[in-house]
Amino acid sequence: MKNILVTGGAGFIGSHTIVELLNKGYNPIILDNFSNSEKFIIDRLKSLTGKKEIKLYEADCTVKSNVLKVFENEKIDGVIHFAAFKAVGESFSKPLEYHKNNVNSLTVLLECMKEHNVDNLVFSSSCTVYGDTEHSPVSEESVKNKPTSPYGRTKAYCEAILNDYSTDEKSKLNAVMLRYFNPIGAHPSGEIGELPLGPPNNLVPYITQTAAGLREELTIFGGDYKTDDGTCLRDYIHVVDVAVAHVASLDWLAERSNELESFNLGSGKGDSVLHVVKTFEKVSNTKVNYKIGERRIGDVTTVYADCAKANKVLNWKTKFSLEDALQHAWQWQLNLKKQ
Ligand code: UD1
Repeated sequence: MKNILVTGGAGFIGSHTIVELLNKGYNPIILDNFSNSEKFIIDRLKSLTGKKEIKLYEADCTVKSNVLKVFENEKIDGVIHFAAFKAVGESFSKPLEYHKNNVNSLTVLLECMKEHNVDNLVFSSSCTVYGDTEHSPVSEESVKNKPTSPYGRTKAYCEAILNDYSTDEKSKLNAVMLRYFNPIGAHPSGEIGELPLGPPNNLVPYITQTAAGLREELTIFGGDYKTDDGTCLRDYIHVVDVAVAHVASLDWLAERSNELESFNLGSGKGDSVLHVVKTFEKVSNTKVNYKIGERRIGDVTTVYADCAKANKVLNWKTKFSLEDALQHAWQWQLNLKKQ
């Protein structure tokens, strides 16, 4: 397996995965419509990896003719499908856009893969498929409650589509569904990182932008949850650790056929929102102006991962700490400000 189509390859997790793929000798082909990313990231990817060219198709992957064109022009061995809308809060005000974008892009891709006899797929799923869990850590076998947002439902539907398709006896699908917990941080070089267009929806870019003076104040959504400090617990994982797991998944798929497996990708521990803010203040030596506000619709109280399956089967484990991730995110923010 060498030529890998990466949808959303200019995005946050996508761009970090491109670096890992190139460093491991894969040949990634990016398909991105830059709806939530910037073109200069492609140049950064080249300079980071010393590559003169990275193949890029600028197109929306919900449109089948766009995707078919890539399959016709390139010899593709496998696909990593990142391209999706991903904000829990925003998905309540844009449910149709979320379903159309996240679900259609997957079915279009699967059709194109089928027509071109491409079987290998790594799909970006999310811990959101577990819904409001009663117990953490959650393993892949944990009971899945209903997702609590339209975004969450798009990921659960996509997993259901992959399950249904893999049981079709004509399907040769060979796929991995990676359930990310909360990917944060940036490349240690400070050259690529999270690049929200407009006000960030996610916690860490909101923290770094507030610390940098670009936002007046961070609102912590809810201080009355049943946790030690009243704020939600999440499992924050460095984006480079997430990226590395994609390469491990491709290596694993290369030796198999007709598999469909899901893997949790997290750090294995729950950190509160307040702890993240305090840790950021410590590693950056900067104050974050924050207030405790109302709860955000769609948020669950606590979710963190049991990653034993990915550790064992994919032979993967995290390398970076919460402190590393926050430091790298801050370095990226400082570099952005200098531009
Ligand atoms: C959700 C998904 C996660 C997915 C991510 C993509 C769940 C349980 N998790 O993460 O799998 O990768 O979306 O976007 O559905 N917060 C604040 N103030 C802010 C922003 C966030 O207090 O300005 C709090 C949130 O209430 C939450 C935590 O920070 O408790 C993390 O929020 P966020 O970064 O948005 O990610 P999730 O919604 O947890």
